Amino acid sequence: MAGHFITFEGIEGSGKTTQIARLGRYLKTKGYPVLTTREPGGTPIGDKIRSILLNGGNKAMDARTELLLYLASRAQHLNEVILPALTEGKIILCDRFTDATVVYQGYGRKIPLREVTRLCRFASLGLQPHLTILLDIDVPCGLARLAGRGKIDRLDRETQSFHAAIRRGYLRLAKAEPRRIVVISSKDDPDRVASKIEEAVDAYIS
Ligand code: TMP
Repeated sequence: MAGHFITFEGIEGSGKTTQIARLGRYLKTKGYPVLTTREPGGTPIGDKIRSILLNGGNKAMDARTELLLYLASRAQHLNEVILPALTEGKIILCDRFTDATVVYQGYGRKIPLREVTRLCRFASLGLQPHLTILLDIDVPCGLARLAGRGKIDRLDRETQSFHAAIRRGYLRLAKAEPRRIVVISSKDDPDRVASKIEEAVDAYIS
């Protein structure tokens, strides 16, 4: 396929949204066709699934229900958005993908990693990101940024130890796949973080 599939990952409050928008502008200025999208969501059906997943009232949601909803959103996103954009040669900047499922549902919810990985492969037809930017920040800093935003959803309400397990899970994945997953500290000022991301993406594309 002609395009490039770049994903962004990190704990809550790691600054993904800001940095994806900045990288999108940077790449467009250089003349690349860019598509920015996110999970869960990215399609009309996926957005409906997203609102179920993030609804603070859905406290009764079982971990397996949650896993399958993330994967349902992904299957739709893959067919409707990601695969067509890759075929058209676009650079896709996607806010979260399979790594988020492995980490949140595997390391966070403790669903056996073997099951999570198998189901992820089914939902994504085995597609892996070409490059993943992992924005790393310590949990208190990330949560403090969230609190500053004033809007807390079902997952943001999890305990510190849940978020710490997520961070550890991400760093473990990065250690296992150092060529695909580039870890960038997002504690620095946003301009420095943006230039480190641009450096990593330039090195990958060239
Ligand atoms: P966001 O806040 O980055 O938009 O992500 C929404 C929430 O969904 C976030 O708490 C992480 C969580 N999530 C999972 O638990 N599993 C997944 O597979 C994905 C894509 C997100």
